Amino acid sequence: MVNQGEAPAPAAGSVPHHVAIIMDGNGRWAQRRGLPRPAGHQAGVAAVRLIVEESVRVGVRVLTLFAFSSENWRRPRHEVALLMDLFFRVLRRELPRLKANGVRLRLVGDRAAFSDRLQRRMADAEAATAGGDRLLLQVAANYGGRWDIVQAARSLARAVQAGGLDPDAIDEGRFAAALSFSDVGDPDLFIRTGGEQRLSNFLLWQSAYAELYFTETLWPDFDAVAYAQALQAFAGRHRRFGQTAEQVGATARA
Ligand code: FPP
Repeated sequence: MVNQGEAPAPAAGSVPHHVAIIMDGNGRWAQRRGLPRPAGHQAGVAAVRLIVEESVRVGVRVLTLFAFSSENWRRPRHEVALLMDLFFRVLRRELPRLKANGVRLRLVGDRAAFSDRLQRRMADAEAATAGGDRLLLQVAANYGGRWDIVQAARSLARAVQAGGLDPDAIDEGRFAAALSFSDVGDPDLFIRTGGEQRLSNFLLWQSAYAELYFTETLWPDFDAVAYAQALQAFAGRHRRFGQTAEQVGATARA
C-alpha cells in the first residue's frame, strides 16, 4: 500500500499509551514479489522505522515489537543467521535516528542464546539511547509469553526459598512485578499484521485487557495510513476492564 500523504493524528486522549505489534508477513511480502524471504525482513526494517516515528508523532509512549520469538529458532538456519545479522547491523545503523527522535531502546527476552557480540551490541544500543524520553521502544527478541511467565515464577520461587518472600504474599501485582518490563503499563492496543488472528505466545499475561486489532496488511506495507486506521479503531473501542458499560460511564463522568 502506498502512503498517500501524512496520516491524521488521532484525537487527544484516545491515543494508546502502549502499543504492541506482531510484525507478520515479511516472508509473503517478498515471495509475492519473486524475492527471497530475507528481502521481506529488510523491507520490514523500513516499516519499523516508519512506525517508530509515527508513534513519536502521535504521542504513543511505549511501542513493543515482536522481532524474534522463542519459536523462530526453528526456521531454516540461513534465515535465522540472516535475521541475526540484520539485528546486528540495525542496532548500530539506526541509533542516530532513534536518538534524534528521542527514542529509548530496550531489548526484552532471553538474551543468553544470542552471540556475545550481538549481546554486546544490544547493551551498547540501550546505553546509547538511554536519554530518550519521548518513546520507549521495546524490541522483543528470543521472547515468549510463556517464557516470561516461567522466569517470573522461578524468580519468585527463589525469593521464597531464600526466605525473603511469604508464598501467601504472591498476588497478581507481585507476580506482574516479576515479569519483563513490569515498569511500564500493559499494552492498550495489540496489533497483528499479516492476516493471522492469534497471539502466538506474545505478551500473554500483559495483554489480558489489550484491545486486539488484526489486519491483512503485510508488515512491510504497514504504513502511516494503516497505523492511523488501527489507532482510529482503538479510539472507537469501549474499554470496560470487567465492569459494566454503566459503571465505566459513571467512572468516566465522575
Ligand atoms: C514475521 O514475518 C517477521 C519476523 C519473524 C521478523 C521480524 C523482523 C523485522 C521486521 C526486522 C527487524 C526488526 C527490528 C525491530 C530490528 P514472517 O517471516 O513470519 O512472514 P510470513 O508469515 O509471511 O512468512
